[in-house]
Amino acid sequence: MRHKLFVTIYTLLILSVVTSCSEKKKEKSAENNPVQQSVNPNGDSELAILMRQMFDEAETIKEKIANGEPIELSLDHEKMLTAHATEPEKAASAEYNTFAALYLQSIKNLESAKVSEVDSIYNNLVMSCLNCHKVLCPGPMVKIKKLQ
Ligand code: HEC
Repeated sequence: MRHKLFVTIYTLLILSVVTSCSEKKKEKSAENNPVQQSVNPNGDSELAILMRQMFDEAETIKEKIANGEPIELSLDHEKMLTAHATEPEKAASAEYNTFAALYLQSIKNLESAKVSEVDSIYNNLVMSCLNCHKVLCPGPMVKIKKLQ
């Protein structure tokens, strides 16, 4: 009986830690250990997976800029407007759509940027990640700041 209670509490704790917008950095451990990923019974949302790809793409862009190489975008960023989220009401909110529009504008600016503008446009792009996260999903902000 007691044991069962502990297991239940423990499971609840793990679940709360794994929730996407929580402070906990679960991305790393989930990547290295696929078994842990199934701790979340709902699986990762479409939007969470897209966000991780957006992070990776931004990281690649940052490297390319540092090496003076041309930038290529490979993701369909517009998918963020339709991807299913862990908390669908968040992604349906007016705030989300406003921040998403600003983010997508930064992506467009980056695509058409002159070499001399790339640095500042990249910084705007990361700011537009952070602006949305500040309001809707503060958990990953520490990680996103590393892109600056
Ligand atoms: C318009 C708002 C918005 C913008 C812009 C945005 N995000 Fe997110 N992000 C979210 C929301 C909402 C979630 C939670 C997704 C879910 O769990 O379904 C999220 C989740 C994440 C996560 C956690 C994914 C996981 O493993 O659960 C990371 C990392 C992330 N975003 C990085 C970024 C980066 C990097 C950018 C910019 C390149 C960015 N985000 C731009 C709203 C945004």
